[in-house]
Amino acid sequence: MIFENLLVSTENGLATITINRPKKLNALNKNTIEELHNAFNKLNNDNSVKAIIITGSGEKAFVAGADISEFAHFSVEEGGRLAAKGQEMLFDFVENLTTPVIAAVNGFALGGGLELAMSCHFRIASNNAKMGLPEVSLGVIPGYGGTQRLPQLIGKGRAMELVMTAGMISAEDAKNYGLVNHVTTQEELIPLATKIASKIMRNSSVAIGAAIKAVNDNFKDGVNGFETEISEFGACFGTEDFKEGTTAFLEKRKADFPG
Ligand code: COA
Repeated sequence: MIFENLLVSTENGLATITINRPKKLNALNKNTIEELHNAFNKLNNDNSVKAIIITGSGEKAFVAGADISEFAHFSVEEGGRLAAKGQEMLFDFVENLTTPVIAAVNGFALGGGLELAMSCHFRIASNNAKMGLPEVSLGVIPGYGGTQRLPQLIGKGRAMELVMTAGMISAEDAKNYGLVNHVTTQEELIPLATKIASKIMRNSSVAIGAAIKAVNDNFKDGVNGFETEISEFGACFGTEDFKEGTTAFLEKRKADFPG
């Protein structure tokens, strides 16, 4: 896959997307959002891809936000459309993928950058990472799901403080808040993400996709996650992966999931 602002590689079923606009601290312009949609869509539809890592190029930033130069002159309608389209194409899209997505936050994750990391299924960070939603310092609010996902992840009070102060927190604080699962050095960030991904990839990708859906449904208005869990649980019994997983256990061997 060739992109202007992304590097995408796949090795042994693990795909890595690197957002590659280091001179602009990997800020998300329209083109990058479209490219990310296309890359995620393609990888999610590729059965041989079992997990995806997303990170930023360079040593300074994961993503320093939406590209401010692109929307500074927008009208009310254009602003609304920007948020709606971005949420649909990238942020909600990533959250609802059936392939697990790990954000490897390697530096600044601000505004749309933190919102992108929060759309991923979970996050790890390097110890130089800084995270925040600085939008109110620009006279706007987070528009790519930040006001919703941040309180889900760290609680309402902490989210309110972070949003209202437009401040940044360190990787260690983010870990204490439950925003990232692990903190490591910059050099160890991708190796750690790879190690976690390899553990995930040993399991049934079909079951993992179903589990992602059930967990996500806990946070959807008007959807009963327990009911989703029951129907997804039942559906697993009709899969080849379930047959292989249970047979392998009973035969005391490692499962080789067809996926
Ligand atoms: N949108 C567009 N361009 C951005 C950007 C963004 N969100 N964040 C950084 N850049 C650009 C800068 O304009 C600069 O470009 P230039 O060299 O052509 O002038 C380049 O990236 C490097 O950024 P710079 O500000 O010089 O780096 P720094 O180390 O001094 O500061 C930050 C780093 C992250 C603190 C600072 O870039 C920043 O505050 N960025 C905006 C963060 C933000 O508000 N994001 C939310 C957007 S909704």
